[in-house]
This record gives sequence, C-alpha cells and structure tokens, in this order.
Amino acid sequence: MGIAPAADWEHDLASVLLTEEQIQARVAEMAAELADEYRDKHPLLIGVLKGSIVFLSDLMRRLCFPLEIDLVCCSSYGHSSESSGEVRLRLDLSKELAGRHVLLVEDIVDTGLTLSRLCDLLRERQPASLKVCCLLSKPSRREVDMQPDYVGFEIPDEFVVGYGLDYAERYRWLPHVAVVKPEAYR
Ligand code: PRP
Repeated sequence: MGIAPAADWEHDLASVLLTEEQIQARVAEMAAELADEYRDKHPLLIGVLKGSIVFLSDLMRRLCFPLEIDLVCCSSYGHSSESSGEVRLRLDLSKELAGRHVLLVEDIVDTGLTLSRLCDLLRERQPASLKVCCLLSKPSRREVDMQPDYVGFEIPDEFVVGYGLDYAERYRWLPHVAVVKPEAYR
C-alpha cells in the first residue's frame, strides 16, 4: 500500500510540537490544580476569543464543580504573524465581575501585551480575585511583566498553530500544536 500524498495545508507545517495526547494529559493535570483552588469558589472562567475556545472547552469539562463562563475578544495580531503591539477590546463581557473569582483562560501568552492590558481593564471591575491560565507561554518573547498563574507548556519562540491557534485563521481545528514553516508566512 502506498503512502498517501500530503494535503496542501500540510506543506505549511514543519513538525508537531505537542501531540494531542500530551495536550490532553496536561489539561487534566491543570484541571486538578485548578480544582484545588476553585472548587468552592464558583469561579467565572473568561475565555479570550478566539484562540482559547478549544482549551476552554476541554478544561471546563474536566472541572467537575459549579462554574460559569464568559467570553471576551481582544485583537492584537490581525492577519500578521507578529504582534502589532496594539490591543483592542472588540467584544466585552456579559457578566459583572465585582466580587467574583475570575480566571482568564488563554491559548498563548507571547509578548504578554494582550493579557497585561486585559488584566488592567478587568481589575477596574473589582473581582474578588483575578488569575491567568494559559496553555502555552513563550517566556523569551515577553515585552511586559506578565507571569501567568497556570501554564500548560513553556515553548520556544516558534510560530505555532492548532488547538485553537491560527495563522491567518487557518489551522485552529488541528487537535495538536504544530510549528509553521517560516517560508509559509514570510
Ligand atoms: C493571540 C492569543 C493571545 C495573544 C497573545 O491572539 O490568542 O490573545 O495573541 O499575544 P501577546 O501575548 O503577544 O499579546 P490573536 O490576537 O492572534 O487573536 P485570536 O485568539 O483570535 O487568534
């Protein structure tokens, strides 16, 4: 039996950085950690659109206690592979934060600009607590002092897609995290 030819989209991807199994195992560990802190706090999990939706949906299904979710949309990258440095709030929350234990859920922290700006905005609404949980973090790319409270994986400075992360809206659907070939976006 011959080897099936690669699909067009596969030619953009250099390698798999995190397999589906690695991601799912780490999400389960993170959920156990979060349960220790939030089980009795009826937390509000806020997903940052769009990249966080896959992580948020996997994570919340492993948190077997009462919680609520909400969504916010900040845009910093547009269709480029580099951060513009500009953070805009494009969709606001539907819930009040005052007195709530809030956990921001992100797919990736890169420069830290998005979460830093978002945390500043949300603190003005006086939550009882505000913490950050991200699946991926690139510490070498940080431009502001932003240390997430819960980190799934620290990764090198590679352009990655999949498990919610995109390049120009492509590849969010991949169940794993893959590295994009530089020639695909340069
Ligand atoms: C990505 C990611 C974070 C942000 C991180 O979002 O989901 O929100 O960039 O980058 P930073 O730490 O340098 O600010 P993006 O703007 O690409 O939108 P998306 O989630 O809709 O893909």
